[in-house]
Amino acid sequence: MFAKEIYIQRRNELKKLVHSGVILLLGNGEAAMNYRGNTYSFRQDSSFLYYVGLDTPDLAYVLDIDNDKEYLIGDELTIDDIIWMGNLPSLKERAAAVGIETVVPQAQLSKLITPDHEVHYLKPYRYRNQLILSELLDKKTDAVLDRYSVKLTKAVVKMRLIKSPEEIVELEKAGATGYEMHLLAMKMCQPGTAEREIAGIIEGLAISKGNRVSFATILSMNGQTLHNHDHSGILQTGRLMLCDAGAENLNYYASDFTRTTAVGGEYSQRQKDIHNIVLNALNESIVLARPGITYKSVHRNAYRIVFEGLRDLGLLKGDTEEALQAGVPALFMPHGLGHSMGLDVHDMEDLGETFVGYDDEIQRDTLFGYRSLRFGKRLEAGHVLTVEPGIYFIPQLIEQWEKQKLHVDFINYDEVKKYLDFGGIRLEDDILITPGGCRLVYEKRLPVTIEEIARTVKSS
Ligand code: GLY
Repeated sequence: MFAKEIYIQRRNELKKLVHSGVILLLGNGEAAMNYRGNTYSFRQDSSFLYYVGLDTPDLAYVLDIDNDKEYLIGDELTIDDIIWMGNLPSLKERAAAVGIETVVPQAQLSKLITPDHEVHYLKPYRYRNQLILSELLDKKTDAVLDRYSVKLTKAVVKMRLIKSPEEIVELEKAGATGYEMHLLAMKMCQPGTAEREIAGIIEGLAISKGNRVSFATILSMNGQTLHNHDHSGILQTGRLMLCDAGAENLNYYASDFTRTTAVGGEYSQRQKDIHNIVLNALNESIVLARPGITYKSVHRNAYRIVFEGLRDLGLLKGDTEEALQAGVPALFMPHGLGHSMGLDVHDMEDLGETFVGYDDEIQRDTLFGYRSLRFGKRLEAGHVLTVEPGIYFIPQLIEQWEKQKLHVDFINYDEVKKYLDFGGIRLEDDILITPGGCRLVYEKRLPVTIEEIARTVKSS
């Protein structure tokens, strides 16, 4: 938690941006895993954390802008809560620690929020909160999803997108743990080791240093599956291990790195060639990222590097600009270059990716590949983003494109098909946009060249 003045200042800023009506922020409740008493690890809603800072279940916050009043809504612990889960300071004391004077029991929330108020709420992503809103506002559960406040959403996005100095310190801490997780994974990348063992150990590291992982660990020799959560493989010489993982620190901020490592540190020439194209795309993107440039153009430049690199290897042919226009690189990199990161690994994705990553000036493309870019906006100092180019050989996608005779003027399918057993390579760093350019969020960079990675694997 930060000092209470930070939460007070954030709420004052929010009040100015929204201007009128009543703001309702719902915290999260516990979510049952397989029966009510056995819950998933509790995670507070990130916007609630940002404005209220309290990280226990079943809380809500009401800011009545018209009457200049604010309330924390929640119930004091019962003796049963204390016996089973432990004691906490009173809710009144916890509210005071974040600058809120008035606490109201849950049963009275409906008195503060009535359907005749102009109520601003964020689009719920959990059904529990959808139900609460449905009852409070006397609307069908589906209607609740449609009537969220665009004004509040835009205000929250505007504020959370620019990271303050104290948030950057937290992101650096998450980065430090992410760094250790990846270094360990790289050292464990030896023939005969189970993917599950590596995934489990690095996830344990995240828990030992902070709250948990910031998203489900992606760790597999089958890196061509972009979000591969299957860890059932045993590492084999000649294969690559793609590891995309990050930590959530004690203050709920995220890190998100990817490295792809040749098992045992032994790279084939083909693996080196593809790795170096991806590395060029990563390094050039980091050089380009600065205030004033759009991330959409940085993504396009990464596609250019992927196209030209694969053309040099004989897999592609033709004119770069025409190929980019047609979306040819998406066959090998069907995802975007990166996303905003903060309290969420995909920051504020619950509020709508388009609100976060696009605006009146920069709109999302519709073409395959380009349309998966989560963040295309013009960069500003204080943005925190991932940079994560990749090249993947997805057999089913290659087969589909070939069958449809897609882009035959640009793609040498016979050459591409020689790589069907390759897997995929992704390399990912986290950057902070600064007034003069950008820097890595965590100062140390993970081994990233072939030589650095091979040395690290062999040093274990
Ligand atoms: N690192 C996982 C993702 O960005 O989706």
